[in-house]
Amino acid sequence: MQDFTNKLAVITGGASGVGRSLAFALGAEGARVLIADVDQAALSSTVADLAEQGIEAHSQVCDVTSADSVNQLAAKAYDELGGAHLIFANAGVAAGEAGPIWGYADNDWKWCFDVNFWGVVNTINAFMPRLVTQEAEDGAEAHIMITGSGNGAFLVYPDQPVYSATKAAVQAVTEALYQQMQAAGSKVKVHALFPGPHVVETGIFDSDRVRPEHFAKAADAPDSGIRNADDLRELMESYGAELHTTHPDEVAQTALQGIRDGQFWVVEWNDQTRDKVETRMQSILNKTNPVPAVLG
Ligand SMILES: NC(=O)c1ccc[n+]([C@@H]2O[C@H](COP(=O)([O-])OP(=O)(O)OC[C@H]3O[C@@H](n4cnc5c(N)ncnc54)[C@H](O)[C@@H]3O)[C@@H](O)[C@H]2O)c1
Repeated sequence: MQDFTNKLAVITGGASGVGRSLAFALGAEGARVLIADVDQAALSSTVADLAEQGIEAHSQVCDVTSADSVNQLAAKAYDELGGAHLIFANAGVAAGEAGPIWGYADNDWKWCFDVNFWGVVNTINAFMPRLVTQEAEDGAEAHIMITGSGNGAFLVYPDQPVYSATKAAVQAVTEALYQQMQAAGSKVKVHALFPGPHVVETGIFDSDRVRPEHFAKAADAPDSGIRNADDLRELMESYGAELHTTHPDEVAQTALQGIRDGQFWVVEWNDQTRDKVETRMQSILNKTNPVPAVLG
């Protein structure tokens, strides 16, 4: 797809960070946007900011961990707003795990899998049947872009196994969906988005702001204590590494270019990450033992 004018884009996790930047970037290219999020206040202010830019913006409170909630979002897109040709399964959280794996709070695993993994599955289940039906009716190209992470898809960091495990699972599902749609000769294109090339300065470090009560973590459970990029910067400096960051607007431009170029792997590499991925692949192919990856 080269022209986004008047296309409806649905973005989960659209009230902050990468999702919010996607809404502005798409709107600037003439798309209409439907942003969905659990954070009602951020959703309202984002819609107001989009409208101020002259962008047609709709919103719906939606919890991607609930199949019903995502189905209601899809119903709004297809029954009320005339159908969507751009879907971004983007909502995600980080649970703040820390220390040895066996000490993590169960709720870190459960919450992170519920949002990052089941959120993607629920979005696929709600939107793919509608995208396929729509294609049969209008013959037009459509796109579903799933936000994964190099942290899990390409690399395993020793200190974030919960997050990495969710994103490894997301990668498997995304790639299988791509292959299924390719095999079917479908005009519904599947893309895997990897925000970067550096750590993206978003609200992800403070995901606990939208953590529901039923996944609350006990006050004495292990926690990384990292609540923003500055906390991470301090930690990295303590082991002699430097934190480089990327603005989410840059990720949104990478995402739109990936759609225009028909790419599956929508990723901007930096040299260090590329080297680490190459090292890991060589370790697998040559059966040498893993070299621990560190951020930076
Ligand atoms: N920030 C990075 O460096 C980075 C790197 C790689 C991948 N990612 C991925 O990018 C995506 C966007 O995250 P971000 O960095 O913009 O963080 P963010 O916290 O700024 O945005 C995530 C949004 O998802 C929403 N959300 C959380 N739980 C939800 C739920 N149950 N239902 C619906 N919405 C929910 C939040 O309210 C928030 O608005 C995530 O999938 C994340 O894993 C981020």
